Amino acid sequence: MSIEFAGKTALVTGAAGGIGRATALAFAKAGARLSITDFDSKALEETARMARDCGAEVLSEVFDITRDAGVAGFVQRTVARYGKLDCAVNNAGIRSEVLPLAEFSEEAFDKVIAVNLKSVWLCMKHEIEAMLKSGGGAIVNVASAAGIVTVPNNGSYVASKHGVIGLTKAGGIDYAKHGIRINALCPGYTRTRMALGSIADADGLTLDMVAAALPMGRIAEPDDQAGPVLFLCSDRASYLVGHALVVDGGYSVV
Ligand SMILES: NC(=O)c1ccc[n+]([C@@H]2O[C@H](COP(=O)([O-])OP(=O)(O)OC[C@H]3O[C@@H](n4cnc5c(N)ncnc54)[C@H](O)[C@@H]3O)[C@@H](O)[C@H]2O)c1
Repeated sequence: MSIEFAGKTALVTGAAGGIGRATALAFAKAGARLSITDFDSKALEETARMARDCGAEVLSEVFDITRDAGVAGFVQRTVARYGKLDCAVNNAGIRSEVLPLAEFSEEAFDKVIAVNLKSVWLCMKHEIEAMLKSGGGAIVNVASAAGIVTVPNNGSYVASKHGVIGLTKAGGIDYAKHGIRINALCPGYTRTRMALGSIADADGLTLDMVAAALPMGRIAEPDDQAGPVLFLCSDRASYLVGHALVVDGGYSVV
């Protein structure tokens, strides 16, 4: 199934690598004009170069996604440049400390909530304002399989991702009548800096062990996530609102 985004504008946060980069490049190949952001300037520039090589026009900005002024300015400049915002993928995220719940520091807990949850609300706020002016659009918030089920010793991450699904449902019904469809993607283990880092940090765990424990016998590649994100943003998903699409190779089903 090929999905076309010619003439559409797509914004992707956390686009310096992993799922965000794969999503940005999939939009670029599908004909979209891109706005991408991350706070890793070097890797973001590499994503921008790869997208331009696919023929896409690219606006790329470096800022901390937890800062309201950064998000507001980025959305404003996207609309100023392209005339409207059609699709937005709120993907930037971090992992949490690996500790039993009561042992998190307040500072570390706040940071995970700020990046993984509050920034998604900030992005939605400015994206929705822009989409209301142009008659609609589609937003995808990247949650996690850990937004559906829990995983041990990751309490702040699990809470943040359950919260992203809550925000998705809340925004989904608030704006459904305004032509804005808001849905979530819930990835399982995906080969990115984040997942490989968490496996490397876990005592005695290897990638092969994780893969063997999964129903599909492999972890996802970033492109396994990008396809479903584009589907959720496309007209093929025209009646999907407030939905959490689980793309985890069966991890949360077992
Ligand atoms: N990889 C997985 O197994 C997996 C599973 C479930 C959910 N996810 C989610 O997918 C999303 C993408 O993660 P990924 O796996 O591609 O990892 P990643 O680390 O490659 O990508 C996350 C990106 O977010 C950026 N980022 C983090 N904090 C930021 C901030 N304050 N301001 C701006 N940018 C910031 C990082 O620089 C990075 O480029 C995350 O929300 C993550 O929680 C990943």
